[in-house]
Amino acid sequence: MSRMNELYKRMVSFYRGEPQQIQHFVKVHSFARLIGQEEHVEERIQYILEAAALVHDIGIRPAMEKYGKSNGKLQEQEGPAKAEAMMQELGFEKDVIERVSYLVGHHHTYTNIDGLDYQILVEADFLVNYFEGEMSGEHIRDSVKKIFRTETGRHLVQEMFFPEEFQMSDTWAQDGLKDLEDWIEEQGIYIRQ
Ligand SMILES: [Fe+2]
Repeated sequence: MSRMNELYKRMVSFYRGEPQQIQHFVKVHSFARLIGQEEHVEERIQYILEAAALVHDIGIRPAMEKYGKSNGKLQEQEGPAKAEAMMQELGFEKDVIERVSYLVGHHHTYTNIDGLDYQILVEADFLVNYFEGEMSGEHIRDSVKKIFRTETGRHLVQEMFFPEEFQMSDTWAQDGLKDLEDWIEEQGIYIRQ
């Protein structure tokens, strides 16, 4: 089994009995993987991104155990050590662990996003949190403007939350022509009947 799948399973066990936590990171991981691939990030960055997406919220459990709460700051404080230990046990490379640990420790900080792995992780987390947190359209729109940078991330927001807004597709001219042809064809059939 791949090391990444081992990490995936370890995170499921880490949050055993807490399906909302498991389903959260599964969704964040899936969006992160998709955005990374569509944005053609380097293989190594993609690898770090996917590992980070799996473990990004690992700090919630230790924060709850220690403090009975798990705000963003406490998650960032408690998460890195847990992520490092889990990834070391599974034999991840040192530099991968270091970067993932950094991302775990900063994923609620949006002021100094210093790489595509960081950017995409944050976008994927927001995509899931907009829905899970039942955010209003106005709130989502506002936050997307501030946070989202990738075309794929913005596209996912648009498709999921603002499907009614007019979108000019790349092929709109051809689509329009085809619609017209179909319409003429239909009229022809109608006239012939
Ligand atoms: Fe999250």
